[in-house]
Amino acid sequence: MTVLGIETSCDETSAAVVIDGRVASNVISSQYVHQKYGGVVPELASRAHLRLIIQVVEEALTRASIGRTEIDTVAVTCGPGLAGALLVGLSFGKALAYGLGKPFLGVNHMEGHLYSNLLGPAPHGFPFLSLIVSGGHTMLVDVEAPFRHTVLGQTRDDAAGEAFDKVAKMLGLGYPGGPIIDHRAREGDPNGVRFPRAFLGDGYEFSFSGIKTAVLYHLRRHPLPDPAREGGGPYERTINDLCASFQEAVVDVLVTKTIAAAAACGRFDIAIAGGVSANTRLRRRMEEAAAPAGRRVHTPPPDYCMDNGAMIAYVGWMRSTAGELSSMELPALPNLELQ
Ligand code: KG4
Ligand code: ZN
Repeated sequence: MTVLGIETSCDETSAAVVIDGRVASNVISSQYVHQKYGGVVPELASRAHLRLIIQVVEEALTRASIGRTEIDTVAVTCGPGLAGALLVGLSFGKALAYGLGKPFLGVNHMEGHLYSNLLGPAPHGFPFLSLIVSGGHTMLVDVEAPFRHTVLGQTRDDAAGEAFDKVAKMLGLGYPGGPIIDHRAREGDPNGVRFPRAFLGDGYEFSFSGIKTAVLYHLRRHPLPDPAREGGGPYERTINDLCASFQEAVVDVLVTKTIAAAAACGRFDIAIAGGVSANTRLRRRMEEAAAPAGRRVHTPPPDYCMDNGAMIAYVGWMRSTAGELSSMELPALPNLELQ
């Protein structure tokens, strides 16, 4: 069973080939056009997908050493995501399936993230607890068996990655902010500034808009040193301390809730997925917190952390081997839920 997966829900144009459950290729083209705006501009994302999609799909087929006619199913992200961006991948995938006379399958982007740890070199089994942390989502999901899962809680406002991106923008650090903050935080003091942790009681819901506002108010009270007047040292130190302190507050909440959920559900395998799962501090703190109870933390290789076609092709493969396919009338579903 050979599945072509296409992912265009946000700002990565990606295509991949999965053959009998194994990733044969995974091509990701990140759109840098958004950098100067400090966030994804939906209209520009759609236009970039349109420009890139054919070459990305061709490259995925070439790297997998297969021709178009060898595709058994075309799997495409149908939601959640940006409507215009989703439409590009969906229209392309449907047209390709139609032209080839092959089945078409719409895939929930969040299911892609949920199972992305099964794509790596050492996949874990079922059941497991999943923390999905990306630019658009923060959620804890208890996964009992394939496609049998319960969403335990999600963010009420900003996603964790969104908070990283917005705080980086406030500090004038560029986009996407997550990797930049992660890098700078290594040189900073995580206890430099005590930012609030929004635990919202003992439940599994998250909120990251408060910490973003706390950073904003802190900057109003304590403006950044002017490198032209005071030299680069104080400016660099202040920025690094703010990055480390902000990151620590976010990581504290993510780790505490994930470990509590794993204990409550009796899960020993914890899978972290989504762009923020690349965060080095989150990985280290999660492993340190999980180890005493004998829990194992799984994080995908970098190309499966970010948005990618391989996770879509993999879910497409899981679903199509179970006999599923979608109607050609399936629309883009920008607000599609995981349930
Ligand atoms: O999963 P993803 O590629 O796209 C979405 O579905 O949103 O996640 C992108 C998000 C961005 O907010 C980016 O800043 C964040 O993941 N990110 C990180 C790191 N690498 C990417 N956040 C914290 N630390 C990182 N190392
Ligand atoms: Zn994503």
